[in-house]
Amino acid sequence: MDQIVNVNEFQELAKRALPKMYYDFYSGGAEDQHTLKENVEAFTRIMFRPRVLVDVSKIDMSTRILGYPISAPIMIAPTAMHMLAHPQGETATAKAAAACNTIMIVSYMASCTIEEVASSCNAVRFLQIYVYKRRDVTAQMVKRAEKAGFKAIVLTVDVPKFGRREADIKNKMVCPQLRNFEGLISTEVLPSEGSGVEALASSTFDASLTWKDIEWLRSITKLPIMVKGILTREDALRAIEAGVDGIVVSNHGARQLDYSPATITVLEEIVHVVGGRVPVLLDGGVRRGTDVFKALALGAQAVLIGRPVVYGLAAKGEDGVRKVIDMLKNELELTMALSGCPTIDDITRNNVRTESERL
Ligand code: FNR
Repeated sequence: MDQIVNVNEFQELAKRALPKMYYDFYSGGAEDQHTLKENVEAFTRIMFRPRVLVDVSKIDMSTRILGYPISAPIMIAPTAMHMLAHPQGETATAKAAAACNTIMIVSYMASCTIEEVASSCNAVRFLQIYVYKRRDVTAQMVKRAEKAGFKAIVLTVDVPKFGRREADIKNKMVCPQLRNFEGLISTEVLPSEGSGVEALASSTFDASLTWKDIEWLRSITKLPIMVKGILTREDALRAIEAGVDGIVVSNHGARQLDYSPATITVLEEIVHVVGGRVPVLLDGGVRRGTDVFKALALGAQAVLIGRPVVYGLAAKGEDGVRKVIDMLKNELELTMALSGCPTIDDITRNNVRTESERL
């Protein structure tokens, strides 16, 4: 572990640790994977405007999301089926989240049940959901989450249909161990054609979902509701009108619509129209503490990390996830010091220069 010096190095270790089908599932994006590359590369086009001779002898990265204190603005994105990466699955990830004092958003397609995740540690957990054609099943899952002490519901809105992930189609990717789906589908979804994940999504997810359904979700839970998968100012405004409690700017890790924009490039227009009414989070391509800083400077309250967490889990289990988060935290701390920002509130738009502003 001491040999690993940055988050990107976990990807190669995960590749070696995992069967090809699972590594391809975790690492892949939609179609030409243009957005997959862009999510990462767009961060490289943002430069800093560092300030000097500021007292940075103490750096405080702590912040709050929906009122819950976290040690740094780095949270765990919902990603499916952690048991494919490690036998302890989501319970290992949740323990790492607790150790790092951050929030884990548990995927609706988790391989451990939400009760197992809840009882494994005391991390603050949000539950990500999709809305099923069978609304009663979704409603029941939300009730279970409330009972298990989850603190918010994150409705993912960018999967009316499943993106074309060509590696999964080629590999005939299967979906074993989806225990939260029990009673709804057989536990092992085998593809007749395409991939098992797609077969699962198209047989269960409701593609007729609209903004009106937020009202339905609101009617069945008192938990705060965030929407994940917003990429335009128009939809950010619709979300605010619908009364959501938070927005996640996301293109689903480039797994849905290829040529959707890199998330960091649309963050500012969304932050602008939201105007501080609800928190705005961002995910997609965050691999460095400098990326976290850039997202914060452009107005995000926190970022979510997807693939690096899964790679850490595949390579080294709970310790790997901890190391991924710790490395990002250390890098963020250094970036704050070298930018002259001792606290999260000190990070402002003036700390970065985007491509259009470059001399
Ligand atoms: C995801 N993502 C995702 N999102 C979601 O809302 N529900 C889910 O079940 C999943 N599953 C999932 C599996 C895998 C393997 C990946 C890589 C991603 C998307 C995820 O929450 C997040 O938006 C992206 O992963 C962020 O991009 P990075 O950090 O992976 O670049």
